Amino acid sequence: MKGILLAGGNGTRLLPVTSAVSKHLLPIYDKPLIYYSLSVLMLAKIREVLIVCKEDDVKSFKTLFGNGSRLGMNIEYAIQNEPRGIAEAFVIGEDFIGRDSVALILGDNIFYGQGFSPLLLDAAKSSEGATVFGYPVKDPKRFGVAEIDESSNVVSLEEKPSEPKSNLAVTGLYFYDNNVIEIAKKLSPSARGEIEITDVNIEYLKRKKLKLKMLGRGFAWLDAGTNESLIESSQFVQTIESRQGIKIACLEEIAFSNKWIDLQVLKENYQRVKNSEYGEYLQLLISQREKL
Ligand code: TTP
Repeated sequence: MKGILLAGGNGTRLLPVTSAVSKHLLPIYDKPLIYYSLSVLMLAKIREVLIVCKEDDVKSFKTLFGNGSRLGMNIEYAIQNEPRGIAEAFVIGEDFIGRDSVALILGDNIFYGQGFSPLLLDAAKSSEGATVFGYPVKDPKRFGVAEIDESSNVVSLEEKPSEPKSNLAVTGLYFYDNNVIEIAKKLSPSARGEIEITDVNIEYLKRKKLKLKMLGRGFAWLDAGTNESLIESSQFVQTIESRQGIKIACLEEIAFSNKWIDLQVLKENYQRVKNSEYGEYLQLLISQREKL
């Protein structure tokens, strides 16, 4: 399975902050926002990732991740200069996906909760159809909204409905079989001029190939698209990290536990950040490992 991380868009809700820097490079407490979405793909054991972003931002993302080798991954880059819609990822990424299945994550989404890794591995394993994740929210009008029956089967899907049929938002993480390329290519732009991911999901629903998994009460799903959610996300991460002494979305830790990098590469990664608290955390991982 391949992974696509969407890190384009104009970030207009964060202006003037985003006039000179991509939203995905802004800090969420102790690391750039994009770390959180990349960590999700890594937890799903997806090792080949395409980052889709604006031409001006490629250099910055390459400074962070290069070709992915420092994480034992293969990371490629593709350009989307105008936000023509989330589903355009599959048109831009067609060659990258090849004949594989693919997971797509929005670069401003943050997921955190117990039992998330098995849920991801399960979705990644499924070779046919589509898997999306539902999350109850207070303000469903801002999202793609799923209506479900008693057995959690999806009955309808609507993008930003004015009268939502439920409070269940579809999150920014999607798993698809290879048919997604052909489906995305046939879509026409919506009234707001975007190729909508909800239309992709509606097509899977019509084909009876759409699965929805629920992210329950104990789960956090945040999208850091506004000033308020940006600071709330930082506070959330700080609270968990300082209380538990663990880090959310420490990419080097995930790469190491996936056995994608060895101790030597972990130490090289540490050298890049050793002056920081993030560096101290890597040092702790290294010394724990050396004690074994
Ligand atoms: P949005 O939050 O819908 O858009 P945006 O990031 O441009 O922000 P704003 O609404 O403030 O102008 O995008 C959600 C995520 O998806 C975000 O990480 C950017 C990404 N995205 C793309 O990369 N390309 C696209 O065509 C769209 C629509 C979004």
